[in-house]
Amino acid sequence: MKKTLSLFFLFSLFASQFVIARTTNEPDSAYLFAYSTQKSMGRSGLHFAWSSDRKSWSAIGPEFRYLFSDYGRWKVEKRLVTPYLFQGPDRKWHCVWSLNEKDGVFAHAASSDLTYWLPQSYPTVMTNGNCQQPEVLYDKRQGVYVISWLSNGAKDGEAYCVTTKDFKTFSSTKSIPVASRLNDRENILVNGSIETGVVRKVAWADVDNLMKKQQLDTYRNQLSNERLKDDYTRFVGLKPIDATISVKMSESKKISDQLIGVFFEDINYSADGGLYAELIQNRGFEYSPEENGRDKNWNSTKAWSLKGENAEFTIATVSPVHPNNPHYAVLKINIPGAGLINEGFDGIAIKGGEKYDFSLFARNTDGKVKKLRIRLVGSKGEVYGENFVNINSTAWNKYTAVLVATQTASVAKLEVVPQSTGTIALDMISLFPEKTFKGHKNGLRADLAELISDIHPRFVRFPGGCVSHGDGIANIYRWKNTIGPLEARKPMRNLWGYHQSMGLGYYEYFQFCEDMGAEPLPVIAAGVPCQNSSTGGAGQQGGIPMNEMGQYIQDILDLIEWANGDATTTWGKKRAEAGHPKPFNLKYVGIGNEDLITDIFEERFTAIFKAIKEKHPEITVIGTAGPNAEGTDYTEGWNIATQLGVPMIDEHYYQAPGWFINNQDYYDKYDRTKSKVYLGEYASRGNTLANALAEALYMTSFERNGDVVSMTSYAPLLAKEDHTRWNPDMIYFNNTELKPTVNYYVQKLYGQNSGDTYLTSNVKLSDNRSDVSKRIGASVVRDSKTNDLIVKLVNVLPVAVTAKIALEGVGSIRPTAVKTVLTGDLDDKKAQPTTGTIPVSNDFDCALPAYSFTVIRLKTK
Ligand code: AHR
Repeated sequence: MKKTLSLFFLFSLFASQFVIARTTNEPDSAYLFAYSTQKSMGRSGLHFAWSSDRKSWSAIGPEFRYLFSDYGRWKVEKRLVTPYLFQGPDRKWHCVWSLNEKDGVFAHAASSDLTYWLPQSYPTVMTNGNCQQPEVLYDKRQGVYVISWLSNGAKDGEAYCVTTKDFKTFSSTKSIPVASRLNDRENILVNGSIETGVVRKVAWADVDNLMKKQQLDTYRNQLSNERLKDDYTRFVGLKPIDATISVKMSESKKISDQLIGVFFEDINYSADGGLYAELIQNRGFEYSPEENGRDKNWNSTKAWSLKGENAEFTIATVSPVHPNNPHYAVLKINIPGAGLINEGFDGIAIKGGEKYDFSLFARNTDGKVKKLRIRLVGSKGEVYGENFVNINSTAWNKYTAVLVATQTASVAKLEVVPQSTGTIALDMISLFPEKTFKGHKNGLRADLAELISDIHPRFVRFPGGCVSHGDGIANIYRWKNTIGPLEARKPMRNLWGYHQSMGLGYYEYFQFCEDMGAEPLPVIAAGVPCQNSSTGGAGQQGGIPMNEMGQYIQDILDLIEWANGDATTTWGKKRAEAGHPKPFNLKYVGIGNEDLITDIFEERFTAIFKAIKEKHPEITVIGTAGPNAEGTDYTEGWNIATQLGVPMIDEHYYQAPGWFINNQDYYDKYDRTKSKVYLGEYASRGNTLANALAEALYMTSFERNGDVVSMTSYAPLLAKEDHTRWNPDMIYFNNTELKPTVNYYVQKLYGQNSGDTYLTSNVKLSDNRSDVSKRIGASVVRDSKTNDLIVKLVNVLPVAVTAKIALEGVGSIRPTAVKTVLTGDLDDKKAQPTTGTIPVSNDFDCALPAYSFTVIRLKTK
């Protein structure tokens, strides 16, 4: 089905009607002014204005952004200050700019047409001063570009410069007289403000091209911003629609049987306090203030308090349980009665009659044997369960006990109370429900895991997202720190502003996948941290030094051995010892997460990719194409994948519903000979039925393009109420309730009704308006395991649609099919699917309510 008009065609229509009225009187050349604005401090990027007489200027846009600086932390630090545009002898435009007032770094990007800009680089050229007002000229005699700048580290009248042939390697920094610079920036009145920038004479075609780019982007934004709410007026008077959907088995193709998976990131308390069933917060006393600048109590004692008097509670680090877990609690009891209390994650939720496994590490620092009373208590001291452990050693030992909850409570606390005087060291104080998902020790919260499992995901991506590549090099997620005994795992700051205990580590992720019949899809940093990092410098952080990349790559190869090697291999043995002698059968490894595609990225990604390909050709490596559906990172990420022959590439885009409605042909246009696609993160920025239907509509294009789109995952998956740093998410929850969104039901309907063969649908509508046809989606797949035919129909119109479905060559069909319908008001956040039956045949009718998603599962005989 290819009923969506291509954007290009739409744009041509639009352009011819409203905007581009080209005349023969246009000049051959014009002046172009390149600038960024003071008022945004460069955050709105590079702008252009043009003039034919160099006196009166017309801003394009106005203030349309042609280039955006990607250096530093998200939003605040991404500045393009005092841009300087220069055309080199190769006709390429070079833009250099200053990034801020402190770093001795300038930025560079090049472009052939001023609209598409190649990857940015941020050379460090000063160690003792900043880099201001950079400019470029070309030294013909030497055949080099000279980049000069002013600096607060300079003497009066002094400037600095470096030279380069390629903007990749630079000479060392030299001092030069300020007067030797061109100093040709001008102040120009544009759009009512005086702006500073450079003026260049260009061909009129260049100006025209810049204007067209702005017009096309504006038009596309307009489409993306179309709101379904406005459809009530857009479609006033629209009659109910008749749709004839003809499907022929002879027009079918094989598609991916891995289309629907889940993206698990430890964001919004998804792991600790979320899916990971541990009920004790800060069990290892490892919280540290730099993890969460917003909470002044975020330290080793977070979530713990001393109850009672005549006692002291301190934190110590001498001779810990394990060097990776250096902090522990010391409790000194002068008169028995006092103890430690843990408040859990927003309280501890328990269910009456159920068992809870308590454990801790302890040692008697005073040599005296002690008995600890362990209790679950309510806010008024009610006792909900009790047991005792005897601590009989001066060395660290693990002690366990089982508590049986006497009643259900949503906000209990845990008490640990020594029964005699003396001093005791305590660590890794833990409480797990015995009923975890599939009953595993150190397991997952059963209800939440079951809800995820109900999607029937074919794969699970973990541990992120940004958590994979981290906030600075030191924060890159290292899988080896997350396996083995819990007390030996290395906790880490979570870049979303909290703490990762790593209790939910690689072993647990792989186990979760196995339990759900899903493929594990670990995503590993490509040797570079997040481009929005706040620590370790800025921009792309420089990446892991190349002389450390050998070990970094070895760690990735070790992961493959850990997952797939037999128990005689070094790493396979560790997996077997942890309780899984059989290999996990890892097939996919993601390298990189929506990174800024720079030379630094490319060098590291290439080294990792080649090493995996050489040692493990059986592994499908998934590359990355940046955080957007287009633009430099997208294009360059794809270029690298094409050059290297990377089998699959991870795309990300978060867009408004209008974008999804108007871009259903996005993958129809993909080259089938290049890499396959893993759409690793997408969402339509909302949790209403309108959002969910826009996603359901777009997802018909995943099935239609299932020969090139191999995997998809909505993002993010989980969010704990009151700890949500990112919205929207697919499933909200608190300690006692699960709140799946409407978007969840769409994912579940697709996950439970996937197929591996796509049957082309030819759709004819009684109304041929393009905005009508864009709002009706159909996809028919066959599942070879059951031989079922699955018809998905999406109606995003305010009127009902009667669909006449004709199935040819599909064999005989049982007369009754299961029909599931998700419908409601556009604003509805609580709509849930209802399931019934429908009489069917090779030619049957189905009524699609206004604003609905219908799935019909037909049995063949
Ligand atoms: O899904 C939330 C975040 O969105 C991910 O961590 C990151 O990859 C993307 O920007």
